[in-house]
Amino acid sequence: MCGIVGYTGNKAALPILIGGLKKLEYRGYDSAGIAIGGPSAFILRRCKGKVSALDKLVSSEKINGKTGLGHTRWATHGQPSEENAHPHTDCRGRIVVVHNGIIENYIALRKKLKAKKHKFRSETDTEIIPHLIEEKLKKEKNLLKAVRKAIADIRGSYALGIMSSDEPGTIIAARKDTPLIIGLGKNENFIASDIPAILKHTRDIILLDDMETAVIKPDSVAVFDSAGRTVKKKISRIRWNPSMAEREGYRHFMLKEIFEQPRAIQDTLRGKLNPAKGYIHLEDIGLTVPYVKKIRKIFIVACGTAYHAGMVGKFLIEKMLGIPCETDIASEFRYRSPVMNKSDLFIIISQSGETADTLAALRMAKKRGLKTLSICNVIGSSAARETNGMIFTHAGPEIGVASTKAFTTQLIALYLLTLYLGRIRGAIPRQEAVRIMTAILNIPQQIRLILRKSKAIAKTARKYSKKRDFLYIGRNLNYPIALEGALKLKEISYIHAEGYAAGEMKHGPIALIDKDMPIVAIATAGGVYEKLLSNVQEARARNGIIIAVANTGDKNISKSASDVLCVPVTLEELSPLLNVIPLQLLSYYIALYRRCDIDQPRNLAKSVVVE
Ligand code: AGP
Repeated sequence: MCGIVGYTGNKAALPILIGGLKKLEYRGYDSAGIAIGGPSAFILRRCKGKVSALDKLVSSEKINGKTGLGHTRWATHGQPSEENAHPHTDCRGRIVVVHNGIIENYIALRKKLKAKKHKFRSETDTEIIPHLIEEKLKKEKNLLKAVRKAIADIRGSYALGIMSSDEPGTIIAARKDTPLIIGLGKNENFIASDIPAILKHTRDIILLDDMETAVIKPDSVAVFDSAGRTVKKKISRIRWNPSMAEREGYRHFMLKEIFEQPRAIQDTLRGKLNPAKGYIHLEDIGLTVPYVKKIRKIFIVACGTAYHAGMVGKFLIEKMLGIPCETDIASEFRYRSPVMNKSDLFIIISQSGETADTLAALRMAKKRGLKTLSICNVIGSSAARETNGMIFTHAGPEIGVASTKAFTTQLIALYLLTLYLGRIRGAIPRQEAVRIMTAILNIPQQIRLILRKSKAIAKTARKYSKKRDFLYIGRNLNYPIALEGALKLKEISYIHAEGYAAGEMKHGPIALIDKDMPIVAIATAGGVYEKLLSNVQEARARNGIIIAVANTGDKNISKSASDVLCVPVTLEELSPLLNVIPLQLLSYYIALYRRCDIDQPRNLAKSVVVE
């Protein structure tokens, strides 16, 4: 996610902006920039790379302006570059904007503005905002009213900081679906994406709510609702220390990222689904209709958690498209002799886009002439640059080594791809697509319901935090979720945990079962529920301790399970999205009780860039 910081007051803005951007670096970014009001025009300085490079760029200049905006960019539209870095300006450089969020209809708006002779310099969605405001100012002299008219034309999410040469000393802020706070000082005020950026200067903040705008001056802050009426806002006093502030009060980045999943999924879905028309917008992944109709086989290759997402993708593709799908661990794929044909589609899944084994497998497929697609969380990464097309997961930077929000957004990308291909190939009828899309749009809220039970899951975790071995079992498209749950526990609590296909119990693992080895069984409604139930009863009959992931209200499972982690009912195809959440929380809390280094587990790296 991008980072915003703004200042207007009686001090030089530059050091405050640079210091604030440094405090936002933990969010991950690829370029940075500042704009500061000058005697005549704005002084705009931007660069690709780190805030330290920006600091060096301006260090030799005398920039004394007392109002300014700063930004760190996490690329979503357009490569990391100076031209794409924020702030962006209008044609005359008199309006300056920084933005965090996604503008879904920027292509249409850009076309309209170009027709009105506006000149664009970047590939970003953000750049349409200053030009839109410039256009509105032709009729509306008041900056705030022009901003409100401009954002009324925008579809998507935004946290905005805006300045105009016509109103020196003033910052306009606006927010929809992306956080933005106002910091209150003495003869100075601030805006920021989140608290760490301004904690050094003030602990008194106002949280802007959705559809609100604000006019910030050195000695006043006025907030307005969507109808333009003045709103009286509560002033909150922040009690966090700086490191807690970076995690927004969560104890670990992993917990923060588990709780960010509803927003991350909403951002990944944004602008992609049109249930009313049964349509999926994935045109920009570079697969033509004739090519899609000719696909004979699909490969999905990845590592770790991303591989588990790929396994779910295999179930979806084979069940819903009727196309054979081969999934493989990248480090195995590259050393076997896979049979690939040019008509096959080759997909890699990678949060970082830099995993060495995954990239090596990709290069093998490209050498054989296959069309390639990446599902990736980092624009500008090797995976994004080296594949023919990409589905971007809008998870935002994932700091915790244990992957959580990247995994669920990878699953979302696979649902989108399956629906897209299925509609083109006629394998998924419109009504079926609408049914699935409607259920997908409900997932963020259903995840919120599970997250609300985190305290109960913590209680279960405490009971088992001293155990030495766990078995995770699942069937069908929840078999990969059993593997994922076991991986989460292994990598952050250092407890030995194995994921297994539940039907395999009799073929060996059942010998392991005793009263000291909890079995986590994923037993939600679906075609294999009864089978799973009998696996649970088999384990119970051998004194196994059962922790079940089951649908709320399931009376059967509680007869055999010592603990039930409840999830809402959804379509069977979508159940992995919900079933993984309690397993993420279970592993987090077990690791917490074991006082493990949750965000940086021993021996692990966030991105395995070597073999
Ligand atoms: C998952 O929790 C691990 N951090 C690890 O398995 C990770 O998924 C794997 O290394 C792949 O990383 P990538 O998605 O960046 O390619």
